[in-house]
Amino acid sequence: MDFSEVLEKRHSVRKFIQGKEIPPAMIEELLEAANNSPSAGGLKAREILVITDEKIKKLISDSAHNQKDDFIVKAGVVLIFCADKEKNKEKFSERGKIYASQDATIACAFAHLKAVDLGLASCFVGSFNEQQLIESLELKQNLYPIHILPIGFEEK
Ligand SMILES: Cc1cc2nc3c(=O)[nH]c(=O)nc-3n(C[C@H](O)[C@H](O)[C@H](O)COP(=O)(O)O)c2cc1C
Repeated sequence: MDFSEVLEKRHSVRKFIQGKEIPPAMIEELLEAANNSPSAGGLKAREILVITDEKIKKLISDSAHNQKDDFIVKAGVVLIFCADKEKNKEKFSERGKIYASQDATIACAFAHLKAVDLGLASCFVGSFNEQQLIESLELKQNLYPIHILPIGFEEK
């Protein structure tokens, strides 16, 4: 798809066709797009978790206050964008924490746009209980969740 068309078509989608799986090759393309995003010092101080397991999706949705009829559960894949608090610490000290959060956000934006290009749809989810999400995903100590990005085929 032409880049201008991607920008025009982009919008937040919270209704997905339940049970319609996203082909693994598409998930790879989404991750590739996210990984091609810029990062402070090129250090990529972020990590992306790929969730397709139904039970874990439900735990994620619970941590996000079961928004909009549990739409997160209906997504084909849920990407979790985490800041890595340790990765750029040596280079940037305290300021590194802000950069890590920005690295995660930019990567999420790239995946959000790539989804449009692939005929998929998604929605940034930033409203969630941090501690609950950290515990549900058993995140390593260096990781801090910034965005949940449920991705699926839009139900129109
Ligand atoms: C940082 C951030 C956090 C957001 N968190 C949520 C959220 O928790 N739940 C939700 O339904 N939408 C969330 N959104 C999506 C916005 O509501 C949406 O982008 C806005 O309403 C504009 O609509 P559009 O994306 O269709 O243009 C978030 C967007 C951003 C950028």
